[in-house]
Amino acid sequence: MATNPHTTPHPSTPSPAAPVPLALWPVAQTSAQYQRAGRYHPDSARHPGKMLPALAARIVSEYSNPGQLVCDPMCGIGTTIVEAALLDRQAVGVELEAAWVDLARANLDRLLEPDRRRLAEVRQGDARRLPAILGNLAGQVDLIVTSPPYACDAGVIDRKAWLAGGRLCATETLNYSADRANLGHARGPAYTAAMAGIYTACHAVLRPGGLLVTVTKNMRRAGRCVDLAASTVTLARTAGFAYLGHVIALHAAIRDSQLVARPSFWQLTQTRKARARGEPAHLSVHEDVLVLQAIEVSR
Ligand SMILES: C[S@@+](CC[C@H](N)C(=O)[O-])C[C@H]1O[C@@H](n2cnc3c(N)ncnc32)[C@H](O)[C@@H]1O
Repeated sequence: MATNPHTTPHPSTPSPAAPVPLALWPVAQTSAQYQRAGRYHPDSARHPGKMLPALAARIVSEYSNPGQLVCDPMCGIGTTIVEAALLDRQAVGVELEAAWVDLARANLDRLLEPDRRRLAEVRQGDARRLPAILGNLAGQVDLIVTSPPYACDAGVIDRKAWLAGGRLCATETLNYSADRANLGHARGPAYTAAMAGIYTACHAVLRPGGLLVTVTKNMRRAGRCVDLAASTVTLARTAGFAYLGHVIALHAAIRDSQLVARPSFWQLTQTRKARARGEPAHLSVHEDVLVLQAIEVSR
């Protein structure tokens, strides 16, 4: 079990090289589709990079208490906000794209009874302006749960077109929207600078000692592994966070002591293409959950 920093005292500034506790959570014993079926709005399937509901619920339960304020500055279709309100937390989501904001609000309306619906809201805006968007909630957030765009292509799969020899994803669905301001389009130094701005904005809205839990996935580009977890920890430390814990969110099911991968059609085709190019690619069966705490820093 990971250390629960919510119940531990404010840490002294740890050495960047100090090891952190490692935990493993099996959050995909049931599939993503099963976890959403009959609950989330069916159009939620259109969003290409959603968090597993079981993972969002586990993060909220482990790292906050009922009545506390949870925020997701890049909330997509609102998974973290919905699951936080279902666990009796106050929750505020921010999302850049109007289409995803509408869907997030539809999910709140659909999943939450009126008393819980009052706990949750979604605002449209750029996460780099989080303090202004949150207004008088800035400085009061207990927990931020988020999963950033991964600086890789993500789009809505068009299996029919692909089987007919066309593109796997229609161009206009790539990177969450065609809007170049969406960080799904940012690459290299532009992506790093934008994410640095977002972690700084997160630090500014958390109460002292508040937690940032961010979910990333390492990926391959041009045959090389891009260690997004490590670069995220570096960016978050620079923004004033201490790195407290690392959780492996297992996206394979455990069946009879075996791991059974649950790849998406996208992952399968990408992995097959990489192998055909001679790259030693494997199906990815986990995400990295990074647990960070806002500490005072002299910048
Ligand atoms: C990986 S997805 C998060 C999905 C979310 N956890 C869910 O379960 O639906 C990243 C989201 O960040 C949004 N985004 C990209 N740039 C943004 C920005 N500058 N400010 C706020 N949201 C942004 C994208 O539109 C996308 O919905």
